[in-house]
Amino acid sequence: MYKIAVLPGDGIGPEVINEALKVLDVISKKFNVKFDVKEYAFGGIAIDKFGCPYPKETENACLNSDAVLLGAVGGYKWDILNGDKRPEAGLLALRKSLGVYANLRPATLFKPLKSASPLKDELLKDGLDILVVRELTGGMYFGPRGTEKIDGGFKAYDTEVYETAEIKRIAITAFETARKRNKKITSVDKANILDTSRLWRSIVNEISKDYPDVELNHMYVDNCAMQLIKDPSQFDIILTSNIFGDILSDEASQLTGSIGMLPSASLRGDKVGLYEPIHGSAPDIAGTKKANPLATILSVAMMLEYSFDMKDASNAIKEAVNKVLEDGYRTADLGKGKLVNTEEMGDKVAEYIGVVKC
Ligand code: NAD
Ligand code: IPM
Ligand code: MN
Repeated sequence: MYKIAVLPGDGIGPEVINEALKVLDVISKKFNVKFDVKEYAFGGIAIDKFGCPYPKETENACLNSDAVLLGAVGGYKWDILNGDKRPEAGLLALRKSLGVYANLRPATLFKPLKSASPLKDELLKDGLDILVVRELTGGMYFGPRGTEKIDGGFKAYDTEVYETAEIKRIAITAFETARKRNKKITSVDKANILDTSRLWRSIVNEISKDYPDVELNHMYVDNCAMQLIKDPSQFDIILTSNIFGDILSDEASQLTGSIGMLPSASLRGDKVGLYEPIHGSAPDIAGTKKANPLATILSVAMMLEYSFDMKDASNAIKEAVNKVLEDGYRTADLGKGKLVNTEEMGDKVAEYIGVVKC
């Protein structure tokens, strides 16, 4: 029996989580594994109910679970709050409390979605399979910040800070992961300008000496943003900082057809993992049933693989997603096809996994 703390969150969060839980239920029956699933308040909805985005009860439940599954947080209603009171601050606190410093964001093109990608066919002839390894508990998100009144207005600052140990551990994650993939890493930084990037580069070089079988190159982040569009096939693993990984993974997601396709796993060795789509709460489409639930469903696949060592079950989800897309079913973000809404997409994946629904 695996204990899963589920945090639906705000906007389309609960909508996509519903579909992910539908799929998890089918997996439970097909693979005869029990999941103890409980939902907890998190994000804006927790602010409304308890006055804070990451209540103690939710934190305790997450720390005592085998894995955490998150929808998304945030929305217009809470945008007026101070930075440290917002739903997004709860997300940073969650990641920090779990210590999940390694955020894996696979940008994989499902073949049937080739035409949904904005890239020309010739750039996608070998498919697209990039893993962004994003540092998640350091950098600008967690450095000293503030807003101060000064003559003539205000001064605001957010500070990028990285320590050797933080860079070492994420680099080791990337190199170990590279050995299970194509043994190729592009470390992305801004070492022509930033001290943190220069430290980053030197530590990554040092770690690479222990992995002579893995090819390493370095790239500036502005160039990387361009190269992703020009020739994505040159990348296998992109290893980068918290802020650069956030931006580059949204960019990479669109190359696979939609941000609604990208799952993520946030890990810390043997500790509890956090699984969430890379997209946000999409307030512009919340309540319209247009949300694509596949990123969250694929996050469940990552949870099965990384937290529960259930590779077959994980593959069953990925194969079902591919088959559903092959048969032409599309949520609105995926372009032309048999248009389905959020629930219908979840139903299709559940059905294709091959268990008669009870
Ligand atoms: P967003 O990812 O929510 O949406 C960006 C665009 O992509 C929107 O047009 C949206 O409709 C579309 N989109 C996103 N997910 C989709 C899906 N599953 N299916 C179809 N279309 C989808 O980013 P944003 O608009 O910049 O932010 C909205 C809110 O979400 C903000 O409050 C932000 O802070 C928050 N946010 C939260 C997370 C998280 O919880 N992990 C991540 C990103 C943004
Ligand atoms: C993401 C989001 C978050 C991030 C925000 C909401 C804190 O954009 O998960 O990609 O920047 O990490
Ligand atoms: Mn983001």
